Amino acid sequence: MFLARVPPAKSHPKLIFRRQILSSSSLTHPLTASGATVLSGTCQVPGDKSISHRSLLLGGLALGITRISGLLEGEDVLATAAAMAALGAPVRRLDNGIWEISGVGVGGLKSPDTALDMGNSGTGARLLMGLLTSHDLTATLIGDKSLSSRPMNRVLTPLGRMGLKVLAAPGGRLPLTLKGAATPLPLTYELPVASAQVKSAILLAGLNTPGRTTVIEPEATRDHTEHMLRHFGVHVDVTPTGDGNVIALEGQQELIAADVTVPGDPSSAAFLAAAALIVPGSDLTIENVLISPSRTGFFTTLREMGADVSYLHERRCQGEPVADIRVRHSALSGVKVPGARAASMIDEYPILSVLAAYANGTTKMEGLKELRVKESDRLAAMARGLSSCGADVEELAEGLIVRGRGGPGANGVGLSGTAPIQTHLDHRIAMSFLVLGLGAEGPVTVDDGSVIATSFPNFVPLMRSLGAQIGEQEAA
Ligand code: S3P
Repeated sequence: MFLARVPPAKSHPKLIFRRQILSSSSLTHPLTASGATVLSGTCQVPGDKSISHRSLLLGGLALGITRISGLLEGEDVLATAAAMAALGAPVRRLDNGIWEISGVGVGGLKSPDTALDMGNSGTGARLLMGLLTSHDLTATLIGDKSLSSRPMNRVLTPLGRMGLKVLAAPGGRLPLTLKGAATPLPLTYELPVASAQVKSAILLAGLNTPGRTTVIEPEATRDHTEHMLRHFGVHVDVTPTGDGNVIALEGQQELIAADVTVPGDPSSAAFLAAAALIVPGSDLTIENVLISPSRTGFFTTLREMGADVSYLHERRCQGEPVADIRVRHSALSGVKVPGARAASMIDEYPILSVLAAYANGTTKMEGLKELRVKESDRLAAMARGLSSCGADVEELAEGLIVRGRGGPGANGVGLSGTAPIQTHLDHRIAMSFLVLGLGAEGPVTVDDGSVIATSFPNFVPLMRSLGAQIGEQEAA
């Protein structure tokens, strides 16, 4: 059994399967948030999810042992760790919290004995498909109900051109069985959607492919794969082209094990920042957060809304910019968020639309077709949830309009949960509505808070330690 290869995993293997059990037996875990007094103090958020996945995937391909500190110990990343172990790269967590992965060298992964359970994680599943494309092995990928409904053809199509063979559920969905190519072919591919997952899957496939693999991204997306490949000694050419980049690498370069320090996840910090903004009197400092320009569209938008947000002690962590972020309660104004900014804040629209409900005036968010195929259809989930909390919201085909009722003294007035919010196995929907409840006139309940463990396992205890009231019981 592959789990035996993740010693001494303490309770982590159990975590990996918890979502699977919950989704199959319909067990849910409602949580209720109600008016917080003041949120104050200094805190840290867990490690960045994107960087955590990549550190395991590249560490598993490198020669030698890679030590990772600050790894996000959320279910998504633990699923990737278990998958790498099952593919022959042993992973273990040391008592001091550092994770070690023993790399097998480029091309060294082997067929797993059991299906790889990627849980809720689109990033884990899609990046792994890329890695497996240029390995002569067979593997089956499964996931929870949310992941099994997400489109995979966006990666399967280009990876098929590199030689991957796939037997997938209708529409190119999980569960699917992959047969990697014994003699993979290099590819030059222009991304039809702005997706770092697709870009990364192709680059990872290129690692064990003879010749040059090139990805053309018309719009820049998060560049953690490029950064981390370089950190592991791979030569990657990146040529900026107006709004995008051309990224190319020669295959069959050796990766050399390199220790990784994972900075805090800006997408998790966004929930804390939003809570501080809507609860009067709040003043929070979130330490050690990644502020890569490819990820900080949310903080740019907050400033445009009038939020008091500052980056303190800006510094670099393995080439990536990091800062402590101080956020103080602020009166917010509605803004128009340009579609061109979407890639740099793609995961932050649910929490931004909550803030928009607290703002004075209209916020229009455009260019968001991709939100329909995230862990849930986030445009629909936010529109339904906000409307049931009393917000004025309009769902567009590719966007959202929220007419905020904020203004002097109006904070949270009129917002209240009327029925449990449906989270659809989506961690960011769950956290967004709990944050909404912290400033609202009445409590807000989400139907299932357990899904938050995919990306932010200590969200509830951390929020409570800062002054938030989040309870296990459903509101009466
Ligand atoms: C991610 C890329 C984004 C993001 C996801 C993580 C990554 O997806 O939504 O949470 O780590 O590459 P897309 O690249 O598909 O937009």
